[in-house]
Amino acid sequence: MNTRVVKIDPQNIDHEVLREAGALIRNGGLVAFPTETVYGLGANGLDPGAVKRIFQAKGRPSDNPLILHISRAEELDKLVEGISPTAERLIEEFWPGPLTLIFKKSSLVPEVVTAGLDTVAVRMPSHPVAMGMIRYAGVPVAAPSANLSGKPSPTRAEHVIKDLLGKVDMIIDSGSVMVGLESTVADITGGGVVVLRPGGITPEQLREVTGDVTVDPGLIPDGDTTIPKAPGMKYAHYSPDAQVIIIDGDMYKAADKIQRMAKDLESQGKRVGIMATEQTKALYKDAPVVSVGDRKRPYTIAANLFAVLREFDALGVDVILAEGVERQGVGLAVMNRLMKAASHNVVRV
Ligand code: TXA
Ligand code: MG
Repeated sequence: MNTRVVKIDPQNIDHEVLREAGALIRNGGLVAFPTETVYGLGANGLDPGAVKRIFQAKGRPSDNPLILHISRAEELDKLVEGISPTAERLIEEFWPGPLTLIFKKSSLVPEVVTAGLDTVAVRMPSHPVAMGMIRYAGVPVAAPSANLSGKPSPTRAEHVIKDLLGKVDMIIDSGSVMVGLESTVADITGGGVVVLRPGGITPEQLREVTGDVTVDPGLIPDGDTTIPKAPGMKYAHYSPDAQVIIIDGDMYKAADKIQRMAKDLESQGKRVGIMATEQTKALYKDAPVVSVGDRKRPYTIAANLFAVLREFDALGVDVILAEGVERQGVGLAVMNRLMKAASHNVVRV
């Protein structure tokens, strides 16, 4: 398939191109587009044939449901079976933005979108290009992250091009995204709020709106073996080609341990990359060191994580030794993704 790659500047949107993207979606095509979290791969969420093509292009298991993206809160009414007062408060506070809510689905939503579940995930992205495209499409847009299944989610168009060129109709290049990790997924069908996937909106922020917030125990990234409730969270995910090992604990002890592990691995002929932070990067010698961000500003780490994992693959390393970070605020989401990238391979110091 011939993939059209187009640039759209989010500060100065070319509405002609965006209208074409919307028409492509409405007519059954696949368009990769930027959102504030990661790039998404969109199709007409009311067209089962188009939605099936998303699964094919990504190599995604068909039991992993998709999120429907809307551009106005009113569009929610016909997709779901009722909106609770808690849902209304969360929508008021966090939409548009990186919060996906799980509702009981209406009969309008095709089974292929929800993988046969009686619930549906909906979110309203805040990225102006995503918003505009959904408006022009005139339909809810089903979209997973625009990566091959199992690879780190794309935070730049180059990542999408690497994974999906030739498999989709159009890729919109709007540069880097803002958040860098996928949206927070929260189930509100049981009365309270259960966080199924941590993301840009933290449990602390949700608690400011409603007291009754729990985090799915299957997600606490501490080697707990409970099965997560969001179908997608059980899959190996976000894996770069290199093996990832997390060294978790006090940052100075971690740096010391990483130095020694790097020496050992190199003596076995392995190429090693070190994922450090602004606070520790100067402590390392020899192996390629990439700083993932500033520990005092964890949002910078979220924004860079997936790109840095892909960067190590481009450098051709065999093993990535990654410092763990604090599981506070967005750090919970960072460690959730990093633990998955490492297949829970952690050395504690
Ligand atoms: O930020 C994001 O959410 C990005 C952008 C493109 O919007 N999208 C994204 O989609 O990350 P995806 O498909 O990669 O992840 C969707 C997650 C999966 O873990 C899936 O299992 C879960 O949401 N999910 C979808 N529908 C669900 C449902 N009805 N019940 C429980 N979990 C659901
Ligand atoms: Mg994904």
